[in-house]
Amino acid sequence: MSAIAREKLLQRADYTHKFNANTGRHGWLRLTPAYSVKIVEELMDQYVHPLRVLDPFCGTATTALSAAYHGHESVTTDINPFLVWLGQTKTARYSSALIASTRDRCSQVIEKVTRGKIEPVKAPPIHNIERWWCPEALEFLCALRAGIEAGSKENSPERDLLLVAFCRTLIKLSNASFNHQSMSFKDDRQLRIPLQIDMAQIFNGDVRFVLDGAEQSPEGAGYVVFGDARMLSEAVDGYFDLTITSPPYVNRMSYIRELRPYMYWLGFLDNGRAAGELDWSAIGGTWGIATSRLSDWERPGEMFKHPMLETALDRIAHYDNKSGKILANYVAKYFEDIWEHFNSLILVLNKGAEIHYIVGNSVFYGVLLSVERLYAAMLGRLGFDNIECRVIRKRNSKKELFEFDVSARWPG
Ligand SMILES: C[S@@+](CC[C@H](N)C(=O)[O-])C[C@H]1O[C@@H](n2cnc3c(N)ncnc32)[C@H](O)[C@@H]1O
Repeated sequence: MSAIAREKLLQRADYTHKFNANTGRHGWLRLTPAYSVKIVEELMDQYVHPLRVLDPFCGTATTALSAAYHGHESVTTDINPFLVWLGQTKTARYSSALIASTRDRCSQVIEKVTRGKIEPVKAPPIHNIERWWCPEALEFLCALRAGIEAGSKENSPERDLLLVAFCRTLIKLSNASFNHQSMSFKDDRQLRIPLQIDMAQIFNGDVRFVLDGAEQSPEGAGYVVFGDARMLSEAVDGYFDLTITSPPYVNRMSYIRELRPYMYWLGFLDNGRAAGELDWSAIGGTWGIATSRLSDWERPGEMFKHPMLETALDRIAHYDNKSGKILANYVAKYFEDIWEHFNSLILVLNKGAEIHYIVGNSVFYGVLLSVERLYAAMLGRLGFDNIECRVIRKRNSKKELFEFDVSARWPG
């Protein structure tokens, strides 16, 4: 393989980053772009005494890891079981002996796979799987997946680490291109990438990358639990001094859609219906069944109401007869869910707790949705004080789109 071909392959797969570009700590797999990690690190730097930190929307555990490295105890919840598994693997502590034994297991797996001594697993039931991987890559991944299973104990930390590396490799070998917002395929000319590359070497490199991160155990403890941010007290114990989180944005992005290759390969999903159901249970989900459910969704009477929200909903609903109503329902449901979330958050905050919500505003049919102001209004109504909306950065080429840090203090 030429250097250029390899470079292209790696670029296409560049969905994974070092945890902290400055310090090089923890190389894993994450959803958030580099600037989000930086924002979380900057916020965390302001808190020097050990605290109990909560992130109700874990994602790839950026806050939990950052808090643990800063010596805090952190608890984070997510509704997606794949992200809970990933977060647990990222925040766990690993001994040198464990890391050495994972390295050995990786060599054994690679040897067996390259010698063809492994019965491959069946390819996962991903719709149009041939669009994702060319036959050679698919064959390799099926053998590698089987090799990891045969070469490590179920639920062992070794297997977890090898599977995180496997996630990195499967994306590198895929035809899909990732960017932060959505996943799309390259045009047809690029669907068959020339694969005269050493796929086993790619996996080996990914294992090394993951183990480098695993070697640097954080000082504080991070706990990642499955839970719904609308019912926090059912998922977490005790009270928290600080919340730093990036909730789902009102942008119709589906985390399930973005994560489906990993989720299918690792057995967290086995059909499209289940994917849609999971998306419906998540805040801001709009994929598959979630979209059709939205069209029949009725706004309950007792939710958060605000003149700014009512005007926006009315304008969105009347912009376009067919999709306007669904979109207005989408926005209304999003704010209902966030309202429910804030109502459950106050039950688990200590007196004087500070909260930071990193969130973007949105535009639908030319209607600007000031998400940050609506968050601030919700917090005000619940009795928070010191409420501020600080612009963090411009989001993209649309001049009205920004990201904000909505912060406040819970007087208790
Ligand atoms: C913007 S992402 C968080 C990104 C995160 N800061 C990171 O480092 O990757 C939002 C997360 O909220 C999760 N989520 C959506 N609805 C939820 C709910 N009701 N309860 C808990 N988590 C939820 C999604 O699964 C997704 O992982």
